[in-house]
Amino acid sequence: MSQNAQADKKFRLADDGGQLIGELPVFKGTLGFEVVDVRQLLDKSGYCTFDPSFGSTASCRSTITFIDGDKGILLHRGYPIDQLAEKATYLEVAFLLLFGELPSASELAQFTKDITYHTMVHEQLTRFYAGFPREAHPMAILSAVVSALSAFYPDSTDIFDPQQRLISIHRLIAKMPTIAAMAYKNSVGQPFIYPQNHLDYSANFLNMMFAVPPEPYKVNPVFARAINALLIVQADHEQNASTSTVRMVGSTRANPFASVSAGIAALWGPLHGGANEAVLDMLEQIGDKKNIPDFIKRAKDKNDSFRLMGFGHRVYKSYDPRARVMQKICEEVLHEVGADNDPLLKLARELERVALADEYFVDRKLYPNVDFYSGIVQRAIGIPVKMFTALFAIARTAGWLAQWKEMIEDPDQRIARPRQLYCGEDTREYVPLDKRRSMTDTSATVHKPMPSEPAIVGG
Ligand code: SDX
Repeated sequence: MSQNAQADKKFRLADDGGQLIGELPVFKGTLGFEVVDVRQLLDKSGYCTFDPSFGSTASCRSTITFIDGDKGILLHRGYPIDQLAEKATYLEVAFLLLFGELPSASELAQFTKDITYHTMVHEQLTRFYAGFPREAHPMAILSAVVSALSAFYPDSTDIFDPQQRLISIHRLIAKMPTIAAMAYKNSVGQPFIYPQNHLDYSANFLNMMFAVPPEPYKVNPVFARAINALLIVQADHEQNASTSTVRMVGSTRANPFASVSAGIAALWGPLHGGANEAVLDMLEQIGDKKNIPDFIKRAKDKNDSFRLMGFGHRVYKSYDPRARVMQKICEEVLHEVGADNDPLLKLARELERVALADEYFVDRKLYPNVDFYSGIVQRAIGIPVKMFTALFAIARTAGWLAQWKEMIEDPDQRIARPRQLYCGEDTREYVPLDKRRSMTDTSATVHKPMPSEPAIVGG
């Protein structure tokens, strides 16, 4: 990992009287904003930074993915996402994310072989599924089964052995589609379909999802191409919530199976990877374009928890470049299934038109994100809504592992341990049991709620 280039400027710390109390280095990367290195801030000034959702915090240095939210740019190792989605295969992009360069023909052949020959799961692992209720959410199964993989592969959990790291990476990328497809088969009471080594990554996933033993299943090449593009646009996205989770768990030296399982749990949230499932539920709820104004009104109402799912993004303050790719894929797939006039796509387009003409969304720079169209594509292919986030998890496994690998190989890496602004009770004496009052006793000192904003000190 190349060290940050130090910018030719310093961040000067002065006290209330303007007296210089210290200086902090400023670093600049290849692209994007510069950063103030605050690692010495507490020691030098006695002050800590306060950034609860890390909106202004660079948690690491990375060479994998660059996002320019204002310009709607997404690069993986310098390659624009639309070119990768158009021209590459998911395994090419996984290789690029992991090792920094697009693979040569021989490297791709070897990587594909390494992945292909790890797609089966230990036969004993299949017994896990009998323990899950049919209606179990696939993400509950995925996070459980992926974490359990460390029990089956203790030979690849030593994170300081590069060879073991590589085998774990191969195993996770290879087995995620198998584990996810088995969750779907379990939910519909059909037998598991084994991976087929003659199929490519996307076609193999579709085959494991939809093939049944009594008859041959032919993978639709348009669907396979759509899945390939969907996997690529969801493969990595800088330090999003689930990737930060994988880095946080990995920083404790937990094994990669446990770290990825934690990432799956984080991705499940409807504000994150669960949004594509939530978009479909929302469109079904809206039902007809005459209801759009009501839902737009609700999305703008601070007293209503409803948000326009698939809209907005912490980083993109312009159109998410992945949403553009997905919109194109959506049209191709719907054309393939003869649903050019799919009512849900028409409703989604009308919702986008109305929202992008509404000043609430324009003022807040809320545009469709990757999840807005990805659900419609998957629904047209026949993937059940509950499996949408599982597919996102399959895709993001390459990104999670590339970021995890980069963290482990970073010489400055330490266990992640943020601090806090403490707003609780000051020191107080223990109260004997017979002197206490219950919390419900209104005359008791009511527990003070967390302040919405920290108390401002000074002027
Ligand atoms: C992903 O981080 C990543 O990179 C994630 C991801 C990846 O690849 O890993 O890109 C994948 O998670 C995409 C996002 C999927 N989530 C959704 O589509 C859920 C709906 N979107 C929102 O909940 C929201 O936009 C977030 C969670 C995505 C971003 O939230 P932020 O950055 O915390 O934004 P915010 O809550 O500070 O919103 C700013 C304002 C607020 O209004 P005001 O307080 O200024 O009046 O915009 C409003 C919000 O209420 N707002 C929305 C909205 N999103 C933000 N209002 C209505 N509908 C929305 N969708």
